[in-house]
Amino acid sequence: MRETVQAFIGGAFVDAASGETFDTIDPATGEVLATVPACAAADVGAAVAAARVAFDSDRWSGAVAERERATVLHRIADGIRAAAEELAELEVRDCGKPIADARADIDEAAFMFEYYAGWATKAAGDIPPVGPDALNLVVKEPVGVCGLIVPWNYPLLMAVQKVAPALAAGCTTVLKPAEQTPLTALRLATIAAAAGLPDGALNVVTGFGPAAGGPLLTDPRVDKVSFTGSRDVGIHIMRECAAQLKRVTLELGGKSPNIVFADADMAGAIPGTCDGVFGNQGQVCSAGSRVFVDRAVYDDVLSAMATHASAIRLGSGLDPETTMGPVVSAAQYDRVRSYVDVGRAEGASVAFTGTTPDDPALAGGYFVAPTIFEATSNDLRIAREEIFGPVMTVIPFGDVDEVVRLANDTEYGLAAAIWTSDITKALRTAKAVRAGVVWINDSQPAPTEGLWGGFKHSGIGRELGPYALDAYQERKQIYIKLS
Ligand code: NAI
Ligand code: MG
Repeated sequence: MRETVQAFIGGAFVDAASGETFDTIDPATGEVLATVPACAAADVGAAVAAARVAFDSDRWSGAVAERERATVLHRIADGIRAAAEELAELEVRDCGKPIADARADIDEAAFMFEYYAGWATKAAGDIPPVGPDALNLVVKEPVGVCGLIVPWNYPLLMAVQKVAPALAAGCTTVLKPAEQTPLTALRLATIAAAAGLPDGALNVVTGFGPAAGGPLLTDPRVDKVSFTGSRDVGIHIMRECAAQLKRVTLELGGKSPNIVFADADMAGAIPGTCDGVFGNQGQVCSAGSRVFVDRAVYDDVLSAMATHASAIRLGSGLDPETTMGPVVSAAQYDRVRSYVDVGRAEGASVAFTGTTPDDPALAGGYFVAPTIFEATSNDLRIAREEIFGPVMTVIPFGDVDEVVRLANDTEYGLAAAIWTSDITKALRTAKAVRAGVVWINDSQPAPTEGLWGGFKHSGIGRELGPYALDAYQERKQIYIKLS
């Protein structure tokens, strides 16, 4: 089934002005899935203009009562839930993930709209005291038109993680989905329009990064850019946005430590550690891909992880038995496999490698066997660089001080997982690790009600919870003289 889709600009589905298109690929088969408009400056300009009109005419922002915005966001959530199974299947075809994971993503995306619908009516300001002769109001206002550039690993969820709080704050948006996975973002546009979101409040421009994302960085009518993706593109975005002092939020990569102490409950630590690296085919910014294991239990933990990983079943994401799908694209396939070669070349030994599907229907798919490397040093490239695939690097450690030093010996600082039954050790380690998200006796939960974002090269700013709302608001002081 090959479908042709259109971009969504100013409330209408349209082709790119140039008429140019590109094909997206089903990563399980390598076959063409959809033909998609290759948007460029003209299309992005039209989308920004529509978002600007929607913002400046108060069609969505200042003149619309917060509770009306909340009602529309609730209706979008209802629309997502009503289309949940269709969206989940579309997500699987687009990015390859197992259907159960896609269902969970869609469910969380619906909840995100509900959660931020609640916040729309609760963004109260402050009244800092300034003495008897004045009243000083600090109010919150939407930042304005927001360019939202998102990746392909959780296509709808990453889009909604930005769109829902931006709309709740009263901003209007131009969403640029990843070129690999544009389909659920376009379905979201249909759902949002049916829910009564005004024209121009959400635009979706499909296409490649520089052509369809680039103009959002340089258009003076865009007030803020929020980006999730690779560090290098994040640096480029910040540099471009600096020229116009645009606000930026950057959610970038990681090489997150996963620390297994000898006193951990291994019944939780073994599967949790494996799922923390192999979940979503390893294509997770917070993947616990550097696994540090206490020397006292190193051999046992390594063999238990290999046993656990051997139960991973690769296949089409649409097959309910599948627990690992293909990686997203041919480029990602080459990239991840090249890191397996790098690991071998730099002397790491392979403790485990899985098997790829032998179904001839999947022969053209981008399946990478899950791999566990044993490394003796945190200095190897496979311990320092984000691989973004199902590759685990295991390193032994001696004591708390050593593992904290190793955990922090990285340019990144997104997440960390700590497995131990000693609460004092857990909390001391959690405080010492330089990362934005720390899990104790778990790995990867990212509740919408919580916080997301990294230290160091993992980004700037925070998403989820009230922190995301904050990122789409300006503060204004209104000082009133009373005498
Ligand atoms: P990328 O960072 O190039 O793409 C992410 C988004 O940015 C896409 O929508 C893309 O079209 C857009 N983009 C790319 N260049 C742009 C530009 N010059 N101006 C504006 N927008 C631009 O990531 P890519 O190439 O898909 O993956 C490469 C590596 O990046 C992965 O192997 C992984 O290590 C990392 N990555 C990290 C993610 C995360 O969640 N932290 C998500 C995706 C990739
Ligand atoms: Mg790229």
